[in-house]
Amino acid sequence: MDRSLPLHALPDTGETPAHTRALRLIAALCRVARADRVVPVASAHVAGVSYWNLGPAGLDYLEELAATGHVRVPTTLNPCAFWPATPPPWVTDEDARLQARVLAAYEAMGVLPTCSCAPYLTGPAPLFGTHLAWAESSAVTFANSLLGARTEREGGPGALAAALCGYAPYAGLHVEENRHPRVGVRVNADLSPPWRMGLLGAWLGRALGATVPLMTLDGPREPTRAGWQALSAALVTYGGPVLFHAHGHTPEAAAFPTLPHQATVTDAMLDAEAARLCDLSPGDRVDLVFTGCPHGTADAPPKSAEGASPDAPWTLRACPAGGALPPAAEARRLSLPGGCPAVSPLPPEVRAVATDSAKAAFYLRSRGYRVGLADAETCARISETGRWPHAS
Ligand code: F3S
Repeated sequence: MDRSLPLHALPDTGETPAHTRALRLIAALCRVARADRVVPVASAHVAGVSYWNLGPAGLDYLEELAATGHVRVPTTLNPCAFWPATPPPWVTDEDARLQARVLAAYEAMGVLPTCSCAPYLTGPAPLFGTHLAWAESSAVTFANSLLGARTEREGGPGALAAALCGYAPYAGLHVEENRHPRVGVRVNADLSPPWRMGLLGAWLGRALGATVPLMTLDGPREPTRAGWQALSAALVTYGGPVLFHAHGHTPEAAAFPTLPHQATVTDAMLDAEAARLCDLSPGDRVDLVFTGCPHGTADAPPKSAEGASPDAPWTLRACPAGGALPPAAEARRLSLPGGCPAVSPLPPEVRAVATDSAKAAFYLRSRGYRVGLADAETCARISETGRWPHAS
């Protein structure tokens, strides 16, 4: 059922200054998207939570909105830099105070401080066909593709404006015809280890650009939920769309006729992608191992550092707020509840990072780190040895 309504049905001014700003931003975003309609959204997910990315201007903007604004739909938060009550040892008290102010501003607006990039796991998953205003590209792709919900890739301010007024521009993937696949892809590879799905996302994004794919998976083993998350995160990071379809796996795929396969992705191609994304050579020192991207559910805390070599690398595992254990200052193996190392300061001595996430590899490399991409078991071994492994 089409629940969209004309943009002119929205009032020009709201009940408070914050609501007026939200309405005006939605109207401006409609003009940018050449949309003359808006659609009510069932939920919003807001990015722009790390004080470190927001800076003073971003914090001022949030605190101004928080003075009079309150969200009208259930709204969740993306990861922040770190949970301010349990800061990692390399950040300052001032860092923690600023991060706490960001969270307080969102909470004053009624936003749930879930601080997770997987809001479909921290609360009820959106229903098929519901319209959302979500930021965070990996969550947008997962919601569109695996759940059949409908959301554009909102920016942080756009998602917050939609949360405050309850409407989003009726454009892009909210509109049925924009959700149709345009290219058929056969995948004949083992997609069971989640990191292989990340490699598939990187390959698809690089090779096909923003074209929506319809995949046929012919590999020997099925992807896991974490694998679909890894694919959702990597696809858009490497240039792909925030929607894919896969026969037998995604809810809209059956509605589309089979497309001729324009490419077949094999294990050898995914191995080549892994090599392309790796900056490290056998024996190279690794200073930090990062896992938990995208966030999972109830994570186990990182293993005890007992028995690890004295120069073991930092080992960080990201998870939703309230998950795992709070960081302990004396340990080099930390959970990062509610945080994301891609948007937070890292220990100053870190130069080289190992991760099992193709998305994290991209963002950490863009910050100047040398990055190695490997499966979860290899990352666990590196957290003991501190060295990039030799080929087995
Ligand atoms: Fe989530 Fe950060 Fe990865 S936001 S998807 S853990 S880069």
